[in-house]
This record gives sequence, structure tokens and C-alpha cells, in this order.
Amino acid sequence: MKGVILAGGLATRLRPLTLVTNKHLLPIYNKPMIYYPLEAMVKAGIKEVLVTSSPDHAGDFANLLGSGEQFDLKLYYAVQENPKGGISDAIMLAEEFAQDEKVLVLLGDNIFGFDLRESVEEFEKSEGGAMTFGIEMPTESKQYGVIERDGKGKVLSIEEKPENPKSNIAQTGIYMYDNQVFELIKNLTPSQRGELEVTDLNNLYVAEGNMRCSMIDWWIDAGTSYDELLRANEMVAEKVRSGELE
Ligand code: DAU
Repeated sequence: MKGVILAGGLATRLRPLTLVTNKHLLPIYNKPMIYYPLEAMVKAGIKEVLVTSSPDHAGDFANLLGSGEQFDLKLYYAVQENPKGGISDAIMLAEEFAQDEKVLVLLGDNIFGFDLRESVEEFEKSEGGAMTFGIEMPTESKQYGVIERDGKGKVLSIEEKPENPKSNIAQTGIYMYDNQVFELIKNLTPSQRGELEVTDLNNLYVAEGNMRCSMIDWWIDAGTSYDELLRANEMVAEKVRSGELE
């Protein structure tokens, strides 16, 4: 299974911090943000990862991460010409790289401790479909995609930042797809905010009855606001001090 980390977008919510640098290069305590999803890939047993970024910053990632040798994996890079094309637009860049394998996609600003290895191994053996990962968020779920699922983990619906959430399960930025994902993305049209949305993509799998949702414990989307960026720094610092993280 191949890995894809998305590190594009314009990160306007974090300006002026992101005026001349890319959000995923900002520090989270003792490491640049992108290290966290990269290390999650390593923990999950993924050996080849494609990093996608915007034209202005793609070179910075190659400078920082190089061949991937220091992480014991092989890194590849792709440029997303429209940095706000959307998450599905960025995933599309992995079509050739993935060949006929399944893919694990991580949003580059997501920080979490959950070990994905078992889920990856199970998904690799499965017939296909897709998997999204959710987290219980009683009060803030409407800032994210919101997942409605049945008792067995089958997803019934996903709504992007709904006014009236159908559940308290927020969709994280961790996704696994079979190889038909690229054909499905070709059917998407831009949303009102002009992006090819991951939620629209995931709902194509939901419509086929092929989307499952696993629950994870702690998780932060460090890119949503200064406060979440600060909270991510504080949380990681605490976990490093307690020995839970390196
Ligand atoms: O973090 C979880 C949330 O991520 C989910 O709950 C939502 O369902 C999903 O749509 C997404 O929402 P955001 O509005 O937070 O996405 P954002 O625009 O912040 O982009 C998320 C990551 O994807 C970020 O690391 C930058 C990268 N990205 C984003 C866009 C729009 C790209 O690489 N290219 C892009 O075109």
C-alpha cells in the first residue's frame, strides 16, 4: 500500500504566519508539522510516500525531507498547480504513483497518536472500498466533516461542516482508498468554495455502501486556527515530556 501526504493549500486562516512559508513547515513543539503524518506513515509500515504541495513550496519539502532515507522510507514529490484545488484534486496527483495499489492518505496538518498499522494491514487484505477515521467531538464537530455511522462502523452519510450535525463524530484527515479512487475523483465537480472536496469523494463510496469508519482517540487539526496550532504545540510538548511521544 502506498502513502500520500497532502501539504498544499494556502492556509489563509494562519496568516501572517503562512505568508512566506507553508503551514506544514511551521513548528509543532520540537518538529516541523509535516514530520507527524510522516512518522505516522512509518509506524503504519508504509514504505513509499508521495508528498504533494503548492508550486511555491514544493522545493522546501524536498530540501527538508530529501529522499526519505532518514525516515526509512522512499519519498516522492508532486506539485498541485492550483494550491486550493481541494483535497481530492491533490489525491488525484497520486494516480501514477499508486499504480494499482491501495492508498493511505493523510492531511499534512493532522496530528494524532493512533497506530494505523493494524488498520492498514486489514485494509490491504480487504476486497476494497474506503475507510475514514472519526473522533468524538461533542461540541466542535460542525467545524469538520461529520460522519453518521451504524453500530457496525458502516458509514451512512458524511456532511461537510453542517449547521445541524447528525452526530458528534468528526471526520479526521486519515483516509484509505482502493484503486478506483482515481476514477471516482474524475466524476467530481468543484464545491461552492471552488474545491474538489474529500467529503464528496467519500460520499461516492458511501453511496456504493463501501465506506467504513474507525474511531481514534486524540487528534488535532493544527491548521484550523492560531488556537488549535497553539493547542497542538502544548499537547505535543506534554506528550514528549511524559515519554508518550519522541
Ligand atoms: O482535518 C479534517 C478536515 O479536513 C475534515 O473534517 C473535513 O471533512 C475536510 O474537508 C478537511 O477540512 P478543512 O477545511 O480543514 O481542510 P483544509 O482546507 O484545511 O485542508 C486540509 C489539508 O489538506 C491541509 O493540510 C492542506 C491540504 N490541502 C488542502 C487543499 C484545499 C491540499 O494539499 N490541497 C488543497 O487544495
